[in-house]
Amino acid sequence: MYPEMINKIKLLSAEIDNLTASSAEEIEALRIKYLSKKGEISQLMADFRHVAPEDKKMVGQLLNELKDKTQNKINDLKEQFSQQDNVAEGIDLTRTAYPIAAGSRHPLSIVRNEIAEIFGRLGFSIAEGPEIEDDWHVFGALNFADDHPARDMQDTFFIQSNPDVLLRTHTSSVQTRVMEKTQPPIRIICPGRVYRNEAISYRAHCFFHQVEALYVDKNVSFADLRQALLFFAKEMFGADTKIRLRPSYFPFTEPSAEMDISCNICGGEGCPFCKHTGWVEILGCGMVDPNVLEACGIDSTVYSGYALGMGIERITNLKYRVKDLRMFSENDKRFLDQFEPAH
Ligand code: DAH
Repeated sequence: MYPEMINKIKLLSAEIDNLTASSAEEIEALRIKYLSKKGEISQLMADFRHVAPEDKKMVGQLLNELKDKTQNKINDLKEQFSQQDNVAEGIDLTRTAYPIAAGSRHPLSIVRNEIAEIFGRLGFSIAEGPEIEDDWHVFGALNFADDHPARDMQDTFFIQSNPDVLLRTHTSSVQTRVMEKTQPPIRIICPGRVYRNEAISYRAHCFFHQVEALYVDKNVSFADLRQALLFFAKEMFGADTKIRLRPSYFPFTEPSAEMDISCNICGGEGCPFCKHTGWVEILGCGMVDPNVLEACGIDSTVYSGYALGMGIERITNLKYRVKDLRMFSENDKRFLDQFEPAH
């Protein structure tokens, strides 16, 4: 019994030294094989009672060493395995995280949001309409004469097979859509992309962005328009900003005006940007023509309204001095990174 047992202990000890495992399941199988109640070492422990009393001390010591060694070996394997797991496929899950580089908001979006926010404070909500439109919503309802040059192939992108399908040339088309469906009071702004058949250069593009504003209610006057414009200009360009309205013409407004603001680059002193006039033009506006109200089903003897439209690129250029319009659509990261990070 006794030499046989010593032998067994030696054999097992050598076996334990060479143990390897490649998965958590394999390690568990080893633990069961050696250390569980019916495991090989437990069997030896059970046989221990047959050892002669004078040998018990020596054999007991060997047995205990074997048991400790096996336990340690299994612990080591477990540890190795969990480390291997963490670096699997080159990913070290214990490493500290990189700061994640967030993108930045597009300058046109920053300015559009700011315009929406300023008009929002005056009670305007946002309305949207389709970019692919028909003649009625872009021109007809807005009082354009049939032979108006804006309808010309040179300005408008038509779908060749059907000239009644076109890309909107201005966001005024959203006015038409909202007035057709809603009775006053109406107080909306319509931001969006518009298309014109222009040669692309640093100062013109075949698509750009506008914000339209429309207010229709009882007793809306030109004074209301002027006050809204002054509020907008001061909020957008600073409290010292002055505005100037010049008479103009649009088919859908009567009277019509263009608004200049005091040049925010030289403060009105005169500089190359404002061509030494001290003023820069930023938008078109006017009182909604009664014909337009009637075309959209609104009684022009009861209601009146004002409308205005501005190019977002133009406002953005004034705020950020972007010299080449093409920068806005080239997706050059070096350009885009200069604007505020997105939240
Ligand atoms: N739709 C005009 C354009 O694209 C801008 C405009 C001018 C809009 C006067 C208006 C307005 O609502 O009243 O040039």
